[in-house]
Amino acid sequence: MAHSRPSTIAIDGPAASGKTTLGGLLAERLGYLFFDTGVLYRAITWAAQGRGLNSSDEAALAALAAELKIDLEVPAVSDGRLYTVRVDGRDVTWEIRRAEVDREVSIVSAYPQVRRALLERQRAIAAGGRVVMAGRDIGTVVLPEAGLKIYLDASPEERARRRYLELRARGESADYQEILARMRQRDELDREREAAPLRPAPDAIVLFTDGLSIEETFAKVWALVENWRQRRGKIEVEEPG
Ligand code: DC
Repeated sequence: MAHSRPSTIAIDGPAASGKTTLGGLLAERLGYLFFDTGVLYRAITWAAQGRGLNSSDEAALAALAAELKIDLEVPAVSDGRLYTVRVDGRDVTWEIRRAEVDREVSIVSAYPQVRRALLERQRAIAAGGRVVMAGRDIGTVVLPEAGLKIYLDASPEERARRRYLELRARGESADYQEILARMRQRDELDREREAAPLRPAPDAIVLFTDGLSIEETFAKVWALVENWRQRRGKIEVEEPG
């Protein structure tokens, strides 16, 4: 029997475009696992900094990416987290979101060797299906066969505003202009890199979310999930055989 829901859903898009919030809600509604792949790159960057590795040492960073123990767990604390991230057993959920990690994570994630080391890890997580995976290259590289691909986008100003409010809500100091400048810098690095640059897959549905609340964005995506079989059915009918 044909499935009525996509078994793997890829959500890609630039920093602070709402992938994590949307992905978390979607996974909850579907009873799927939500996996935010940015956590892997952040955890490696955080661990590299702690170990004094140079961010120009691709081989050392790739070795770290291959062996570092990174776990995502259902949270036991309620402080706004969607999941708990552990590196070698230590809770680093908030530490990997700090500005020092933000500053270097785009450099670390641009290295092909680092990406290669993480590719199989990500595919293994999605292998059983029933997963919503968020990142930059999920629809293009990690899961090119994903049943539904969403590319979330928003203007840099809107994304900087969201990040600013998020930081303030956590009681951290934040400067909007600085966040905006960093956001632009990170966008450029993610888009211009050679290895798996940030871009929508040809079969991704692009949603521009400026002016949309999270509820409105969710409603649009949910409609795509609900109509998935119909749309797929159409494609199957159009294709001979
Ligand atoms: O989504 P995020 O801001 O937590 O991601 C952190 C960094 O990791 C981002 O600058 C780009 C990189 N990343 C990536 O290259 N590929 C992914 N699938 C996920 C994140």
